[in-house]
Amino acid sequence: MEVLEKAGKLDDVVHLEVGEPDFEPPAIAREVASESAAHGEVSYTNARGKESLREAISDYYERQYGVEVPLNRIFVTPGSSPALLAVMLDVVDPGSEVVLTDPHYAPYPNFVRQAEGETTTVELDPETGFEPQIADFEAAVGPETAGLLINSPANPTGAVLSPESVEALVDLAERTGTRLISDEIYHGLDFDAEAHSVLEYTDDAFVLDGVSKRYGMTGWRLGWIIAPPDEEQAINRLVQNFLICAPNHVQDAAEAAIREGAGLDSIRDTYRERRDLLLDAARDWGLDMGYTPAGAYYLLLDVSSLPGDAFEVADRILEETGVAMTPGPDFGTQAENTLRASFATSTADIEEAIERLDAYFESH
Ligand SMILES: Cc1ncc(COP(=O)(O)O)c(C=O)c1O
Repeated sequence: MEVLEKAGKLDDVVHLEVGEPDFEPPAIAREVASESAAHGEVSYTNARGKESLREAISDYYERQYGVEVPLNRIFVTPGSSPALLAVMLDVVDPGSEVVLTDPHYAPYPNFVRQAEGETTTVELDPETGFEPQIADFEAAVGPETAGLLINSPANPTGAVLSPESVEALVDLAERTGTRLISDEIYHGLDFDAEAHSVLEYTDDAFVLDGVSKRYGMTGWRLGWIIAPPDEEQAINRLVQNFLICAPNHVQDAAEAAIREGAGLDSIRDTYRERRDLLLDAARDWGLDMGYTPAGAYYLLLDVSSLPGDAFEVADRILEETGVAMTPGPDFGTQAENTLRASFATSTADIEEAIERLDAYFESH
């Protein structure tokens, strides 16, 4: 049985494999969702999303990054995952290539393949904090390249791109006529560095975001695309045909959450504390990779010194301690010998996991 499936079935498991925040959505989101559904806001909406939600999203970009995003470039979707699929269907021609980082969010290559494209990867090094070396991206972009997909704060590393790297990647995409696609779903969960939107440097990029992570609203399924001006019509057609709209009352709830904010200052402080707990423990266990996550809620652990591959290590640790972590290989070759530990779970659970793993590594 797969490790993650097993983790869901065993009793007394501490879940460090989870990818969703433990905090509650803003209370206003629940209120508005119930009221809105009770008042009959349950029919289809405009495929682009309700205008008032798109206004809230546009205001958010103005407030957060000082950039103007006109409503006609905003497309509300049922989560950022279908948004990513729509963007890939738009950007990728059969046989063309998308450049990904290695490591990367595990499903990325599947989105590209679904659009009949190929992927090529640029290796990121923990020794440089997984900061991209722009020369490697230059070398990876060729005539067959259709897109460059970046993610900061990143899953699975928790690394946050420096503003210089974001600017250099924007510049590279512009010089080479490559579509830049920026997955900004973990924006707001940057506790040691400031995450910069590509929109601070250009309009000519796709941005994907949503309420899943920043507002703790994973199951509500609400995301969005900011499309570059010349792709607005193409994205409109794809969204209209394949997605129809995001749930009507959830759009109202998302608008309320975005306008109200999520009280992120204390959440960021909590994530920083949990990161420190886990990182200190990783150093004690000898599994530290020498970098410090600055955002999201993930830490990669180097398990190359332990017997077996990462799947076997994850399985053995789960069986013997009841601590579940995600095996790294699906995130790319650079994560081949790693486990991904999430600190999105409660501090008490993280402390319990550390206690169990302390005992395990002492006796192994
Ligand atoms: C990097 C990244 N992008 C996108 C998603 C999907 O998020 P959504 O809930 O908006 O579909 C995730 C979820 O884990 C993620 O980690």
